[in-house]
Amino acid sequence: MTIDWQVVDEGWGRRAVDFATLSEPGNSREYVAVHHRLGVSEGDRLIDVACGAGLAVELAGVRGAECSGIDASHRLVAVARDRNPDADIRVGDMHALPWDDASFDVATSFRGIWGTTPAALGEIHRVLVPGGRVGLTVWGHIKKSPGAWALAPFKLADSARLENQAAMVSLGRPGVGEDLLTQCGFVDIERVDVPFVWEFADPEAFARALAATGPAYEAIQHVGEAAFVETAIQQARGLVRDGLPLRAPIAVVGYLARKPQPRRKASQ
Ligand SMILES: C[S@@+](CC[C@H](N)C(=O)[O-])C[C@H]1O[C@@H](n2cnc3c(N)ncnc32)[C@H](O)[C@@H]1O
Repeated sequence: MTIDWQVVDEGWGRRAVDFATLSEPGNSREYVAVHHRLGVSEGDRLIDVACGAGLAVELAGVRGAECSGIDASHRLVAVARDRNPDADIRVGDMHALPWDDASFDVATSFRGIWGTTPAALGEIHRVLVPGGRVGLTVWGHIKKSPGAWALAPFKLADSARLENQAAMVSLGRPGVGEDLLTQCGFVDIERVDVPFVWEFADPEAFARALAATGPAYEAIQHVGEAAFVETAIQQARGLVRDGLPLRAPIAVVGYLARKPQPRRKASQ
């Protein structure tokens, strides 16, 4: 199933403020871990691909990077620009990055590139300088994650959407990401576990945060918003702990790699 990037905003942008304030902050552990592993620092020219509402861009800026970002959702980009007034954040398609070759030292994408979007990785290779670093994350083994319950309401989508979601997460299987990065010309590929925990105040806050995501919209189109929210609340109700947040640790895989330097010609 090919999804036209210009309709992505229907799902990802419809609750942009909820996504930015209730959902995206839960991803912070992942952003901090990948920036640390990539050694993002002062003066790095960094692009975040599928940057969503721009929190990862903001955290890279805190480390001194000069940031750019791109996302298909104009309503998420509006939030990302509000958070990052000095960054170059564009609305567009990650399969055709509107930057010149060799524009960046570092590229990141947090659950933005999937098994269904391999060409986006070729674009990242093109816009990186030789020696440039890339860090991507994708969902890992969701079923084995203690927080699998938090993604379960997405299964309310129709069968075609579910098949597409399965194809997307295939990139998290051992060997698949490594093969794709190799095919795209990257070297020094490393697969790492990335910390990822969503926390929510209560089942209603969980349902509201989840409903702001793209895959939730696919489920809502199939069963309606009320049924989606009710399913999410029921899912969380049995997990409430006195005096503690609802907590959903989910397996996330990180791929770190580098664009090779050109070989030096042997001296004559
Ligand atoms: C799972 S979200 C991740 C967002 C953000 N990286 C984060 O950590 O929250 C996927 C993002 O990909 C964006 N997206 C989907 N298709 C895209 C495309 N073809 N080009 C650019 N962005 C796209 C969506 O708008 C959404 O913001």
